[in-house]
Amino acid sequence: MPLQQVVKNMFSQLGYRLLRESTYHTAIAEEAMELARRTAAHLDVAGTREGSLSEEEYAFMRELVQEASAFPGPIIEIGTLFGRTTSKIALWKLPQAKILTLDNYVWNPLRVSPEMHFHLTSLVLQYLIDSEQVVQIRCDKDEWFSRYSGEPPAMVFCDADHSYEATVRDIRFALRSGAAIVCGHDYSPLHPGTVRAVDEHGGPRALKGSVWVLAPQPA
Ligand SMILES: C[S@@+](CC[C@H](N)C(=O)[O-])C[C@H]1O[C@@H](n2cnc3c(N)ncnc32)[C@H](O)[C@@H]1O
Repeated sequence: MPLQQVVKNMFSQLGYRLLRESTYHTAIAEEAMELARRTAAHLDVAGTREGSLSEEEYAFMRELVQEASAFPGPIIEIGTLFGRTTSKIALWKLPQAKILTLDNYVWNPLRVSPEMHFHLTSLVLQYLIDSEQVVQIRCDKDEWFSRYSGEPPAMVFCDADHSYEATVRDIRFALRSGAAIVCGHDYSPLHPGTVRAVDEHGGPRALKGSVWVLAPQPA
């Protein structure tokens, strides 16, 4: 048996596989490409980043954030995910406005653990947190609503649990806290609970994609 094969067998018995360096690097590069391809395919659903907003919806969100600039309170985002929309809102708000973004990290499309999800999102938002533009709050939203005693929010953006009951609780919190603008994501046939909850509160005064903003409520 050639010496090369003897060495290979020896390593193999110890649980190792000998590879040329170039073969190893090619395998790693292929694995990384495959992972990137699968992640992109998983996230791209009908032009929307899964769990987040489309470009048309972001254009509308920008208008809503600009409208919210006329009011003094914080912008509250219910459902942070990875902080993509939080970062967009931070870009469009007035420098002194604060964003409170809530999440209990129960769901994410990459299926990373809640701990990993929370830490990744902290890293994404690090600059905004350090510059005190964003407060990242890890909590169950309903529990947090019951404790909120801050200023009336300039805007509440509802984008966590899209069931009927949960959306009703989000809208009621927003109205009770005196929010100037009450809006949210996923007013679409895919989320009949959100549609029903919004319709029961007067329906959207405007809708772009599936981003809704509530009509003024009767006194
Ligand atoms: C659709 S994603 C939010 C997307 C994000 N607003 C964006 O545009 O990128 C929904 C998020 O709501 C969170 N969530 C679900 N139920 C929650 C609850 N009861 N309290 C707090 N967060 C919750 C999930 O962990 C998830 O990160």
